Amino acid sequence: MTDNGYPPFRRYRRMRHSEGLRRLARETVIAPDDFIYPLFVTFGTGVRREVPSMPGVFQISVDQLPREVSELRQLGIGAILLFGIPEEKDELGSSGYAEDGVIQQAIRAIKQADQNFVVITDVCNCEYTSHGHCGVLHGEEILNDETLPLLVRAAVSHAAAGADVVAPSDMMDGRVGAIRHGLDETGFINTPILSYAAKYASAFYGPFRDAAESVPAFGNRRSHQMDPANRREAFMEIETDIQEGADGVIVKPAMTYLDVVSGARERFDVPIAAYNVSGEYAMIKAAARNGWIDEQRVILETMTSIKRAGANLIISYHAKEVVAWLRDSRVASEDMLERVK
Ligand code: PBG
Repeated sequence: MTDNGYPPFRRYRRMRHSEGLRRLARETVIAPDDFIYPLFVTFGTGVRREVPSMPGVFQISVDQLPREVSELRQLGIGAILLFGIPEEKDELGSSGYAEDGVIQQAIRAIKQADQNFVVITDVCNCEYTSHGHCGVLHGEEILNDETLPLLVRAAVSHAAAGADVVAPSDMMDGRVGAIRHGLDETGFINTPILSYAAKYASAFYGPFRDAAESVPAFGNRRSHQMDPANRREAFMEIETDIQEGADGVIVKPAMTYLDVVSGARERFDVPIAAYNVSGEYAMIKAAARNGWIDEQRVILETMTSIKRAGANLIISYHAKEVVAWLRDSRVASEDMLERVK
């Protein structure tokens, strides 16, 4: 027995006693280099259109990109993930691999403005097909192997336009190997593949599909994206993508799949990105607008949790505001906001 008459116990609260001690004990710190900012590029000129369900997120045209990139640079963000919204859509999504397609133009515009800014491109057909599906259709069936050459073409066209990294998000089987082979054959041996290896058939993509105008005309994506109920299967997907040549992998969405991020971190040593998707963003913004949550603290807690789970990269629409907060106040955690206020 101790003086207080209780059995001995450990005092964890000692290290939580002051902000200075909490800082010393802190295991996870977020930094600007952790972030990749997703960006929707649309056709036309002078376009800067806010996505209704994603306040603060804009579809912008190619001519606006130099300004956008310099803003990101100033904030300390050095990488973006690009999505294209083409003027024309067809059955095969041919505007996805056209030399003068919106993404190809966007890549060139960014590289011209800032050669060292890292451009990652989303490789998928759904934004470019008239039916909004990720692959070649036979009736209502999405064909796997027939889709692969289209993905390879898109990936090679991105690399040719100057993309630093290609990120296939379609969830067809065998696409990482096919794209690696296609890139190598065309001389892009140094273009890495960041694969959306564990991408779930999630309802959290709703606002994105409005933003990217890629709502499927019929059906859903459950025949290729993963069942939210499955965890072990994610590790098979990741392992296969690494074997096929993926240089890094993405788990998506983030918040509801942190167990997958954490399990992947324990099993694999490649860079792991978590994609904090549109619905996750929209929920926080909506609640904050209603005054129901403390926006800044909720966002910082969310980002910290994603990193704590094991992601070393966070793809997030919150990236700009988070990095601005980090810089303005040198807050590296939600806790430190108190001192800054
Ligand atoms: C497919 C793609 C999607 C997202 C990224 N790439 C949507 C989908 O699979 O329907 C979702 C991103 C988000 O919700 O923020 N090209």
